[in-house]
Amino acid sequence: MAESSAASSPLHLSGGGSLRGTVRVPGDKSISHRALLFGAIAEGTTRIEGLLPAEDPLSTAACLRAMGVEVSAIEAGQPVTVQGVGLDGFQEPHDVLNCGNSGTTMRLMLGLLAGRAGRHFVLTGDDSLRGRPMRRVGAPLAQMGAVIHGRRDGNFAPLAVLGQPLRGATIHTPVASAQVKSAILLAGLTASGSTTVIEPAQSRDHSERMLKAFGARLEVGGPGLTEVTLSPGHALRGQSVVVPGDISSAAFWLVAAAVTPGAELTVENVGLNPSRTGILEVLEQMGARLEVLNARDVAGEPVGDLRVSHGPLQPFTIGGELIPRLVDEIPVLAVAACCAEGVSRIADASELRVKETDRLAVMARQLGAMGGRIEEFEDGMAITGVTELQGAAVDSETDHRVAMSLAVAAGIASGDTVLRRPEAAAVSYPGFWDDLERLRA
Ligand code: S3P
Repeated sequence: MAESSAASSPLHLSGGGSLRGTVRVPGDKSISHRALLFGAIAEGTTRIEGLLPAEDPLSTAACLRAMGVEVSAIEAGQPVTVQGVGLDGFQEPHDVLNCGNSGTTMRLMLGLLAGRAGRHFVLTGDDSLRGRPMRRVGAPLAQMGAVIHGRRDGNFAPLAVLGQPLRGATIHTPVASAQVKSAILLAGLTASGSTTVIEPAQSRDHSERMLKAFGARLEVGGPGLTEVTLSPGHALRGQSVVVPGDISSAAFWLVAAAVTPGAELTVENVGLNPSRTGILEVLEQMGARLEVLNARDVAGEPVGDLRVSHGPLQPFTIGGELIPRLVDEIPVLAVAACCAEGVSRIADASELRVKETDRLAVMARQLGAMGGRIEEFEDGMAITGVTELQGAAVDSETDHRVAMSLAVAAGIASGDTVLRRPEAAAVSYPGFWDDLERLRA
């Protein structure tokens, strides 16, 4: 998380007890970033309901404001408005754009800025973000004519973008990454000629859905919906966007209810876009007691309420094309695996090594400190359960999803856990600790 955030003291989490009640998780992080960014390049006003009021979207909003975009105050429960400046309306900022801890901000912004001919932008971020690979975006954008300079052969921020006229291209991406796909599509909006992205497996498709809703011309096809073609030359129009709850935040409650004796939780208003629901399939594979209620469609995204209760769990095996559909849920699935009778296996997940932290190493280290039996591989882990976890001194290592996964583990551990750097949760779920206290009461 951003080093500018105030560090809080370690958090004492007691083991035992149960979880009951209803919770509404905050807005989807991926959709929130996109609503702000697409609103900024649209013509007219975009009104966003349910925007995630957390550090990552605040980073996106701050970058946009620095380029002359009016974004209203971001406060929980209040709609946010963005006054669009059009496809080519960003002003050159007077200073460096700080993306904080947010990979989505930096990567999507690279796509948006690369084609702003004659303007110069510098993007940076916190310690974690400055250590994350950016050539995966820089290299395809260079194929379209972009000029981006960065440390270590252009791979690491700070990155300088020297805006250029771009040309459309057909790009095969080596990893299934919605951030990479979205950056290329955004660059394609003002390129000459159409742009096609072909992914090895489908990544989350929020950009495609929302770009279409804003009036962009794009087609999705190919085996497993892995090919997206965008035709430029169409202005985007400001829209009304309703952001559903983030399934990646709901995942902590789903696993917590599944593994905590006596627990029963309902998580309301959760986004159920099929490119994100891998976690539900794994929980089903484990035999978890899970029900989807009130399935509905809200502003182009499927939404529902999820009810989960505790029960015996079987181990799971995941890999291949399922991984992009649950990539952010793997840390908390590692906790679930500790409670399943047998060996759970995660493969094809080397992308976790380049997230906010190296999540394979960090989860193996931190859950290991609580007695979790985890074997780490280059691209995954094998986790043996049932293991009775013990309270221990653990550390989020500044990663929001690690912080919340360890909180779930602490709840089922014998004895107390002391979690260092719990404030990391604010990157995606600022009210997490309050919700935990309320649901445990
Ligand atoms: C995101 C895509 C995923 C995910 C990240 C948000 C997005 O990353 O891990 O938290 O909003 O596009 P990759 O697309 O790089 O896998």
